[in-house]
Amino acid sequence: MTEIFKKEIKEGLEASPKTLPSKYFYDKTGDALFVEIMNLPEYYLTRSELDIFKNKTQQLIDSFNLKTDTYFELIELGAGDGLKTKELLKELDAQNFKFDFFPIDISKNALDLLEKDLKKEIPNLSVKTQQGDYFEILHSLKKSKNPKIVLFLGSNIGNMTDVQASKFIYNLSENLQEDDKLLLGVDLIKPKEIVLPAYNDSKGITAKFNLNLLHRINRELRGNFNLNNFKHLPEYTDKEGIAKSFIISTTNQTVEIKAINKSFNFSEGEKIHTEISRKYNNIIIQEIISNTNFIIDTKIMDSKKYFADYIFTRTSKFKH
Ligand code: AVJ
Repeated sequence: MTEIFKKEIKEGLEASPKTLPSKYFYDKTGDALFVEIMNLPEYYLTRSELDIFKNKTQQLIDSFNLKTDTYFELIELGAGDGLKTKELLKELDAQNFKFDFFPIDISKNALDLLEKDLKKEIPNLSVKTQQGDYFEILHSLKKSKNPKIVLFLGSNIGNMTDVQASKFIYNLSENLQEDDKLLLGVDLIKPKEIVLPAYNDSKGITAKFNLNLLHRINRELRGNFNLNNFKHLPEYTDKEGIAKSFIISTTNQTVEIKAINKSFNFSEGEKIHTEISRKYNNIIIQEIISNTNFIIDTKIMDSKKYFADYIFTRTSKFKH
């Protein structure tokens, strides 16, 4: 892990313009800050998708096209605290569907907490936690040949470029069988007045979340970033539909990172690109899945039409 971390930080800071990968936001501090973000009034994403899971549960279930007496496997990629999924699980349980729930996460701790919580809230539910890499686990689950529903919620796909997202979804389709489903939660393109505050909240939590990356480099790679000389900078245009986070240097400065034996110069106003949060519409989604074995089956939106859960069906063969 540290070697890859070092390599990616070095490459990102040597690049022009400078970049740092958003996946490194999520250390212990970053995880806690993201939980705070999800509870912010400006961060509408979580609430919007929860609205779908709470109030359009039957539409979600209908889109799965399952019979109550056919056993299936419900698999969630990056399950987290399961807040939204619980709404669906409770209803599937109440309607006597026969299924096992497979939450996949890299964090063993998150899975243990989720399992405990589910035991308490839905005692009937069969939970089979899976710790590790999404594709390795899906590959191992493929052997069972049981019908599968895969959940990938929260617009987590939005941190990928469209090309990366397309490859990711293609790889998912390769690990599924005909008629299996993928439920993909995505944030929709909407005006700047709504999107930008979600990435620039008034309490400054998102700023802390972004700048925590520099803290992390200081801690883990013996860097000497002076956090007073860097600021959080979000950007969004609804024309492009991509929220971008940068860290901007407020002065000319040199930063040393001991673990990689290098110093980096920053000029006043120079930006480090740290994250993209892609927003979508039907055309973009169609384009992304066009090179995969999925077709769009259903689209379900929250009452404000801020967010969409797309249900894709795995087809038999590659269509051009
Ligand atoms: C977890 C990727 C969905 O992009 O909205 C929140 C992460 N970044 N605030 C997003 C995030 C800044 C979030 N995702």
